[in-house]
Amino acid sequence: MRKRIVAGNWKMNKTYEEALSLVSEIDNMVRDEVSGDVTVIVAPPLPFLQSVGKLTQGNDRMHLAAQNVSEHESGAYTGEVSASMLKSVGTEYVIIGHSERRMYHHEDEQTLYKKVKATIAQGMTPIFCCGEPLEERDADRHFEYVGKQLHDTLSYLSNEEFDQVVVAYEPIWAIGTGRTASSQQAQEMHAYIREQLARMFDAEAAFNTSILYGGSCNPGNARELFAQPDVDGGLIGGASLKSRDFTDIIKSF
Ligand code: PGA
Repeated sequence: MRKRIVAGNWKMNKTYEEALSLVSEIDNMVRDEVSGDVTVIVAPPLPFLQSVGKLTQGNDRMHLAAQNVSEHESGAYTGEVSASMLKSVGTEYVIIGHSERRMYHHEDEQTLYKKVKATIAQGMTPIFCCGEPLEERDADRHFEYVGKQLHDTLSYLSNEEFDQVVVAYEPIWAIGTGRTASSQQAQEMHAYIREQLARMFDAEAAFNTSILYGGSCNPGNARELFAQPDVDGGLIGGASLKSRDFTDIIKSF
């Protein structure tokens, strides 16, 4: 079912103490100030997942995400963390295919597909990220580029598996740069993504998919972005590290 979602990707920021105070502040503000049916997700660094999750347990709106997962089930993969491990500490969502993982950790479509499958197999929801670099946008190939990213990974899922997936469109040129896609650019890409999903699965599945926008989303631009018919919320980086900004973004619906 299509949900309105605001997810905070903390990336590699915060110490343990800082993470606990950030999530407590967010939790309090969400309780006091947020009404309506928005789903709030926080994705802290891995060592803090369980503690952060415990602090949000009593708040129905708040949910826990991991920033990464291994494509393997278990075994000799030093440094990796499996989907079942994440699940066992209360994780409900996993960010997969973020451009930073694709770029710095060389995650290709086949790896991403396996990560999506491993996440779904544990009953968790993948937040599957896609988005084009600046040169593709400048060359007017952004639709083709994003279409291929979706096709190369998601099209291999069954309809039942795909029902679990949330998509995030994050143009790489807008991530951490202060340069946001205009609401019109976001809307046209989100509509295109929904159209591609309808082709890969069916119109109902596409209609029910939450498609989030990410890339320099802040309290000043969130309202206009979230007002677009195909924008179902945001995946927030920098602004999710400040409880006031993050809550104001949540309140932008
Ligand atoms: P940003 O990051 O909001 O700092 O641009 C978004 C993301 O990478 O998810």
